[in-house]
Amino acid sequence: MTGFDKWLRCRYLSWLLETDEDIMTQDEMKQAVARAAVEYAKNGIIGVGTGSTANYFIDALAEVKGRIDGAVASSEATATRLKNHGIQVLDLNNVGELEIYVDGADEITEHFAMIKGGGGALTREKIVAAASKQFICIADESKLVGVLGKFPLPVEVIPMARSYVARELAKLGGQPRLREGFITDNGNLILDVHGLSIVDPVSLETAINHIAGVVTNGLFARRGADVLLLGTPAGVKTYKK
Ligand code: 5RP
Repeated sequence: MTGFDKWLRCRYLSWLLETDEDIMTQDEMKQAVARAAVEYAKNGIIGVGTGSTANYFIDALAEVKGRIDGAVASSEATATRLKNHGIQVLDLNNVGELEIYVDGADEITEHFAMIKGGGGALTREKIVAAASKQFICIADESKLVGVLGKFPLPVEVIPMARSYVARELAKLGGQPRLREGFITDNGNLILDVHGLSIVDPVSLETAINHIAGVVTNGLFARRGADVLLLGTPAGVKTYKK
């Protein structure tokens, strides 16, 4: 084989590898970060989030379920999936601080502030996250953003306060839209707030939560993630605070 042939073969092999990277789908990246997160589930009771990435995590967790004592679910859907895998689901009121909370995000910044609640489970997600020592966010690279707000911010609202809260959210510069036909696990409504550019997520999280009738909003900035496992075509990248 001549030097040129060797070079050509080398280029061909690296082209094949690059092509492999390019065709990695969003779902494959979600599966990869879900599997990586299982390494953090070493013992005790863990908190489990909601959504397609969290579902992949539950499926991967099932393979090592003997390692943990059970899980606290952030939604009815997650509780059902955990139980179907034979993982014990515990009431948060009957357990102490959780070792870890593993969940996806709709958007996350390099400072680990997030928008969550695309699946409408934001309130329980925020509660379980608050009760956990470490928040491990699992997301594919499309979720990493410079500024939060392109994804509409979900706000859980007591039904009788819907119109009042919508007017208050408009005063903050957003365009709230009712999530049609959707009721949360807590029996409330979701207003999705479009058109925000959230440069100070901590302040906005606090301001929205002070509107009467708001249960909570999908900004997770006051208690952001501690670890980000980001799925990329080149593999899972780990970022820690
Ligand atoms: C559900 C959530 C999810 O974590 C978020 O919507 C991301 O979902 P997915 O993993 O399906 O992209 O906050 O309320």
